Amino acid sequence: MTILHADDSTIHRAARALADGHLVAFPTETVYGLGADGLNPQAAQRIFEVKGRPADHPVILHVASVMAAKSLTLNWSAAADRLTQEFWPGPLTLILKRAANVPDIVTGGQDTVGVRMPSHPVAIQLLTEFAKVGSGVVAAPSANRFGAVSPTRAADVAASIGDRLSEHDLILDGGSCDVGVESTIVDLSGSQPRLLRPGGIARQAIERVLGQSFEANHADVPRVSGSLESHYAPNARALLVLPEEMDKIVRQELLGNPSSRIWCLMISDSASTEIQKRRHKMPADPVGYAHGLYAVLNDADRQGVEMILIESPPQTPEWEAVNDRLKRASAV
Ligand code: TXA
Ligand code: MG
Repeated sequence: MTILHADDSTIHRAARALADGHLVAFPTETVYGLGADGLNPQAAQRIFEVKGRPADHPVILHVASVMAAKSLTLNWSAAADRLTQEFWPGPLTLILKRAANVPDIVTGGQDTVGVRMPSHPVAIQLLTEFAKVGSGVVAAPSANRFGAVSPTRAADVAASIGDRLSEHDLILDGGSCDVGVESTIVDLSGSQPRLLRPGGIARQAIERVLGQSFEANHADVPRVSGSLESHYAPNARALLVLPEEMDKIVRQELLGNPSSRIWCLMISDSASTEIQKRRHKMPADPVGYAHGLYAVLNDADRQGVEMILIESPPQTPEWEAVNDRLKRASAV
């Protein structure tokens, strides 16, 4: 495994590595992806081995154009046109019926496929270069061990899966990801559009473009690994806490275990000295909060933190993606 600073020459080398069937972890605007040639089943198979991901969990195909996305799907709709015109390149994944050229391993055996055109310049350049020397289609889940917190920095990728990569696999370092939470996933394969995962683009923005609201019914949602309760979870015990309860919970924990390593992720200030010693200031706006969230969770894991107390953010629509990830991080 080699970490390379992303530039013209290393991106070119990474595109060749993909064409040769190797893995390339690369930055997107949401989180780092663990990429393989999406049309090469043996290469895509290695993603599952490295992540420890169950074989029936589908992965997203990344492409550099709407045309490439159309070639991987059937029944491209007017809604798909409107959404991609508005939000691509960017943090939106569309689920559509799969075309025959998409390998089973990518779809987890389902008849649908997830496609996304990322906006990160390194991702786009990698996809464009890979289209010259290979398929141009990159299957990529988040570049972390299955169930763990997604990486937003190259060092997080190395810490999570570095020891499982081969000498031919690469990590492209493109700095820290802007958005910080995964893409929004919209399923357009059925009769009505459905929101499968809140993410980088707010539900309301998508509803505005679609001209309709998503139905509340999630009963027949297909397999989405992100919809498992305990996902995106740090090793530490994470708890969502009201600000006024924070001090009490810190003291309780310290009573049972005086040397317990506790971090308090807080938006608000606190007069408590026990909290102040452990406080990690989080941004008060949802965009800034999302950008920094996984970094602080990954830092906590690397530093052996035992308990993460997270002040509950507001329960308003702009916070939906952050609240979704916090709920999963703290699910037991
Ligand atoms: O922002 C993102 O989407 C990042 C970056 C790397 O692009 N990728 C990402 O991939 O979050 P992953 O594998 O960690 O999460 C993708 C989610 C999973 O929950 C998967 O089950 C779902 O997308 N998914 C993929 N294909 C699907 C399909 N055909 N039907 C339903 N869900 C699908
Ligand atoms: Mg993931």
